Amino acid sequence: MNKVIIFDTTLRDGEQAAGGSLNIQEKLEIAKQLEKLGVDVIEAGFPVTSPGDFEAVRLIAKEVRKPTICVLTHANLEAIDKSWESVKDAAHPRIHIVLSSSDIHLFYQLKKTREEILEMSQRTVAHARKYCGDIEFSAMDASRTDPQYIYQILQVVIDAGATTVNIPDTVGYAMPAEFGNLVEGAFKNVPNIGKATVSVHCHNDLGLAVANSLEAIKRGARQVEGTINGIGERAGNASLEEIIMAIKTRQNFFNLTTGIDTTQIYKTSRLVSELTGFPVQPNKAIVGANAFRHSSGLHVDGMIKAAQTFEIMDPKSVGVPSSSLVLGKTSGRHAFRERLAELGYTPSEDDFNRAFAAFKDLADKKRDVTDRDIESLVAQEKRTVSETYHLDRLQVTCGDRGIPTAAVRLVKADGKVLADAALGAGPVDAVYQAINRLVGVPNELTEFSVKSVTEGIDAIGEVLIRIASDGTTYTGRGSDTDIIVASAKAYLNALNRLLAAKRTG
Ligand code: KIV
Ligand code: ZN
Repeated sequence: MNKVIIFDTTLRDGEQAAGGSLNIQEKLEIAKQLEKLGVDVIEAGFPVTSPGDFEAVRLIAKEVRKPTICVLTHANLEAIDKSWESVKDAAHPRIHIVLSSSDIHLFYQLKKTREEILEMSQRTVAHARKYCGDIEFSAMDASRTDPQYIYQILQVVIDAGATTVNIPDTVGYAMPAEFGNLVEGAFKNVPNIGKATVSVHCHNDLGLAVANSLEAIKRGARQVEGTINGIGERAGNASLEEIIMAIKTRQNFFNLTTGIDTTQIYKTSRLVSELTGFPVQPNKAIVGANAFRHSSGLHVDGMIKAAQTFEIMDPKSVGVPSSSLVLGKTSGRHAFRERLAELGYTPSEDDFNRAFAAFKDLADKKRDVTDRDIESLVAQEKRTVSETYHLDRLQVTCGDRGIPTAAVRLVKADGKVLADAALGAGPVDAVYQAINRLVGVPNELTEFSVKSVTEGIDAIGEVLIRIASDGTTYTGRGSDTDIIVASAKAYLNALNRLLAAKRTG
């Protein structure tokens, strides 16, 4: 009873967030990392909403064996049948049924009465239970529902076989004390509550998702749902790394534990950010670039004397690499391999050789190569695996008088070399026009941003772009000390992903 079940919905609610289009292999990669992190439940998708989600769930169910693999489904029998098909091969499958409970949703969206919802809840849970012994039921918009009606629903679904009952703050409306009362009330008002785990699922519209989740576990909830980096619908979901570290750091307050290997948090956060294309804000708790940085003189002085003066968590406990060690031009293969291992990378010999060549190239341009540079470099190398088009050469002329011009040479996966040149409104536009002439895939650029990985004039620039084609968004990232080259790599990365998605249908 002292363990809190960590339910990760990065691949479902997180993926639902605008623009977060992960392909199947990327979802599997995240699921494997979540398994290493030690989450208890992975909500792998919403299979009835897309064939891609269906396939991703099937693959994750087969390959990720330790955690429970959960699928979300609408409360109808056909959707439950189909969802079960996707998850049935999991070592520990779970079916998660969602149905709205608030009068607002019932009146405007579902056009159903409270009695009808009770009957649907009972019938669908009983149906799912024929397939699977692990059934979760979510009363959507619970925080805006009459509490007595919520308790009635919980009682009915537990009687029908639900093993976890989830109380979501779907629109991020609740205040901590109020939400805590709602959760605590379940233990007082639902006679059969002891037969199920009480779960919470909070959104962050008022910035209270983590506070509400923590209040709920204080009042008896033993499953908490959220996402890595807090990504998700609108303002996002409760940030799991914040909840986990609050439970660990304030053990004296909560007297609870989780099964999480917290040293995997930083790596998981970087992976999710890299693959979804959602950057982590620098001041983000636990995983932001500044989360363990001290700048004020007074603080630095305290830190030198004793870390606990201004640090409540050891950065190592969340796996943040120490940034004091830098590599450079003279660092050899051994030092680079050791640094990679310390950062959690154990590449194959081929991958290592390519990464080492890229490192040497970088060290020629940049005096100090930091951990963040190495992470960026490894990510860039990973992106070039299974490319349809690879950037071979790029030359740009621009300035305040000339017409921006780009010459681009690409190498196709079959070895064919393609080259062309184009003019543009600016250097990046010229590069994109030249690439368009060679690749010929119509698309619209919807987002473009550049950030530097570390400080200094020689820093690596990371470019994030999103392009839209036939209603789907594709994210691309690229990094280089030259931001025009990084922009070209990011655009090609997005185009390669688009082409791969079209190939697999
Ligand atoms: O926000 C919500 O209510 C949900 C449910 C599916 C739990 O995402
Ligand atoms: Zn949600």
